[in-house]
Formats: sequence, C-alpha cells, structure tokens
Amino acid sequence: MMRKLIAGNWKMHKTRKEAIDLVNRLKISIKNENVDVVIFPPFTAMSAVSSFLDGSSIMLGAQNMHYEDDGAFTGEISPLMIKDMKCTYVLVGHSERRIKFNESNEIINKKIKSALEHIIKPILCIGESQEERASGRTKEAIEHQLRNCIGDLTKTEMQSVVIAYEPLWAIGTGLNATPQQAEEVHAFIREVLKQLFGEKTADDVLILYGGSVKPANAKELLMQKDINGLLVGSASLDADSFAKIVNNA
Ligand code: PGA
Repeated sequence: MMRKLIAGNWKMHKTRKEAIDLVNRLKISIKNENVDVVIFPPFTAMSAVSSFLDGSSIMLGAQNMHYEDDGAFTGEISPLMIKDMKCTYVLVGHSERRIKFNESNEIINKKIKSALEHIIKPILCIGESQEERASGRTKEAIEHQLRNCIGDLTKTEMQSVVIAYEPLWAIGTGLNATPQQAEEVHAFIREVLKQLFGEKTADDVLILYGGSVKPANAKELLMQKDINGLLVGSASLDADSFAKIVNNA
C-alpha cells in the first residue's frame, strides 16, 4: 500500500519566531511514522525551519516558485533557491495563486517541468469553482486543468508528481466536501490519469484532498479508496490540530 502524505500549507502566516515555535511543537507531537509529512512555511521562515527540521522525518516544501533558475524577476524565488533550503516538494497552481495572481495552466505547466528538472516534487492543485459544481461542470473543469497542466509529461516524470484536489468552495470556508463527493472526483482524476499515462502509472499517483480539513473530518476522508493524503491549510497552523490529523491518519 502507498504511504499517505499529509501536507500543511501555512500560507502567509507565521513570523520566524512563530514558525520555529510551531515546528518545535510539531516535532514533539507528531508520533505517526507510517505517513509522510511535509510543511510549507513562508519563505522568510524557511531557512530557520529547515535547520530545525534537521534529523526529523518532517519534510519541507515551498508554497511557490518561478520556473526560471535565475534572472531579472523581482520578488520571485527560483527552484535553485528552494533546493538550497532542502525543499523536497513545491505547491504549484494553488487556487489562491491562480485567482489572485493570475497564474494560468500554461505557467503552472512550466513550473511543474522546472521543478521536475531540479528533482523537486510538484504538488499540483486543481479544483472546481462553486459555479462549475452548481452547473454540473466539475469533471469538465478538472479534466481541463489536468490535461493543460500535466498532459505533456512523460510517464517517468508523472511518477514524481502529486495531485491535490481542492474544490474552491471548500478552501478556507469551513465547508469541506463530503468523503463521497471527494472520492467521486478523486476516482475521476485517476481515470483521466489512466487515459494520459496508463493504468500502472495512474495507480501510483498520490491524490490528496484539500479544503477545510480538520481533525474531525480527516480520518473519514482518508478512508476513501482514492484519497491518498491531505493538504491542510488553517488546521496546519495549530500544532495540536495538525498533529491530531497526522497521528490519526
Ligand atoms: P484550508 O486550506 O484547509 O484552510 O481550507 C486548504 C488549502 O488552501 O490548501
């Protein structure tokens, strides 16, 4: 069986001191060695968090990166820089970046390829809006994002990509998808991956669920056949909540 992956996206939260405090508390409270854990602190706290994670099994990830190695891109962070911080993962295409920073599927595709070239595992976020769900276009939206973000990868490249299904209406709203709603979309994502990369590759891709995950709903979500992990936002900012989610997984 695949090891589950629990990811904590801290977004634009935590000063350096707060981040160190949180990571130290997580190191003490996380006791489940059967799942993989990765945290995504803000860039300003990354160096400190990285050194506090030395010798711990908790992995480090970046919330974003540019696809170029270096250059005149004021305010951006490159794959070489996050590699330097010992990042194993990078979040790509989070809906907040798509909507608030106009990231297109084309840019996301470039970021995924660049991450793979640098041996950083991209976690590609996809999800439908409230309107798309209400008008019965969830699958269409999901398939469009998948084909345009990863459609031209090779099978070997796909082995290092993680998908996170995050329905937009569930992010930061307290309204999570029910385990059945989530499983239906996860199974569909697996179907599209089969069409694109064949059965074997598709079966091995980790598909995480994200959107208002908390200790109270995490376990049931993880019991679904095609849900291989979780991408946690707000609940990852609190050591007790995040540790509960990981320890019960
Ligand atoms: P949330 O965020 O858990 O606060 O809904 C999830 C995410 O944006 O990844």
